[in-house]
Amino acid sequence: PVISALELGGVKIARDDVVRDDPTNNVPDTIFSKLGLQLHRRDQHPLGILKNTIYDYFDTNYSNKFDKFDELCPIVSVKQNFDDVLVPADHVSRSYNDTYYVDSQTVLRCHTSAHQAELLRKGHTHFLVTGDVYRRDSIDSTHYPVFHQMEGFRVFSPDEWEASGVDGTSFAAEDLKKCLEGLATHLFALEDKSIRLLYVDSVKISGAVEMRWVDTYFPFTNPSFELEIYFQEKWLEVLGCGVTEQEILKRNGKLNNVAWAFGLGLERLAMVLFDIPDIRLFWSNDERFTSQFSKGQLGIKFKTFSKYPPCYKDMSFWINESFTENNLCEVVRGIAGDLVEEVSLIDNFTNKKGMTSHCYRIAYRSMERSLTDEEINGLQMSVREQVQSKLNVVLR
Ligand code: PHE
Repeated sequence: PVISALELGGVKIARDDVVRDDPTNNVPDTIFSKLGLQLHRRDQHPLGILKNTIYDYFDTNYSNKFDKFDELCPIVSVKQNFDDVLVPADHVSRSYNDTYYVDSQTVLRCHTSAHQAELLRKGHTHFLVTGDVYRRDSIDSTHYPVFHQMEGFRVFSPDEWEASGVDGTSFAAEDLKKCLEGLATHLFALEDKSIRLLYVDSVKISGAVEMRWVDTYFPFTNPSFELEIYFQEKWLEVLGCGVTEQEILKRNGKLNNVAWAFGLGLERLAMVLFDIPDIRLFWSNDERFTSQFSKGQLGIKFKTFSKYPPCYKDMSFWINESFTENNLCEVVRGIAGDLVEEVSLIDNFTNKKGMTSHCYRIAYRSMERSLTDEEINGLQMSVREQVQSKLNVVLR
């Protein structure tokens, strides 16, 4: 067989057509082909524009104190991605169903938090890490198996909170929220100079953008919060954050400190800021997309270049014990690529014999052209064949 491998940051990984039989590798070609594209490093791309605007905020407000990293290799060890940030051994995010494994000890990072420990050990106390992250997931307009995050991390020394009269944890939590609310104001104020921050119950309205803080859980922070923004009639999670677990600081040479961290999803924030309706567009090379953005211009409203109609195909099958929706979505994406817009479960029942049937609706739509019936029927036929052969389900 022809060995095609990609060299990235000194790590070689084999393509799935070669290592498909290797059970410790579940990286398909569609994902493999995204490695190294680094959309966040393109100044004319919405993700690059957003990254640079966030840099501006930190540079201005923290006099260039934050060290910036945007080229750290996305191929990391299981230790970096999970152990170093205290993810429990039995946590679902470690499963082959949720994470892309290159081999049993190596993954495509599922968050930029994978770099916290190494940067702390190197002595950094204020840093921003931007990069592509990878997660097996279902398919819809705000989920894509590759997206981009920016991690922020700030370490405080005792004298910083001691003078304030509150304990270190409360001090860090308060500073964190202030920092991120300031960032939100910076980002959204650029498009609406008459910005007002209003509190209505726990909902904060900034200009026309509604945001709210939600308490949550992460293994690496306590307390932990999420910031959500109201978009396309749903609350969209745009970042997770919190006060760093003491254990992480202790292990990495910061015994007497407290710290906060956040992980911000760049696509979702960019969708709101630029009015980009579908996450697949970020990957488009169509000039009608790429030419609409320019360096330093945050918040230009994207004008859709005619919306082609979606085409829906339903498919029912009896599932087995090992069936997962993520596996189904990977099969569909392997065949239809970015022509698939959404895969949704529309019916689900168990018969008297205990057999469970699922009916999925697949929405096919190109962002760039109209699809022919023949093309869609061809795709759907392959999907049916592969769902049967690869997932071992029985079509009805
Ligand atoms: N790593 C978390 C995620 O990807 C986000 C996060 C980062 C939360 C830092 C807390 C602190 O969802």
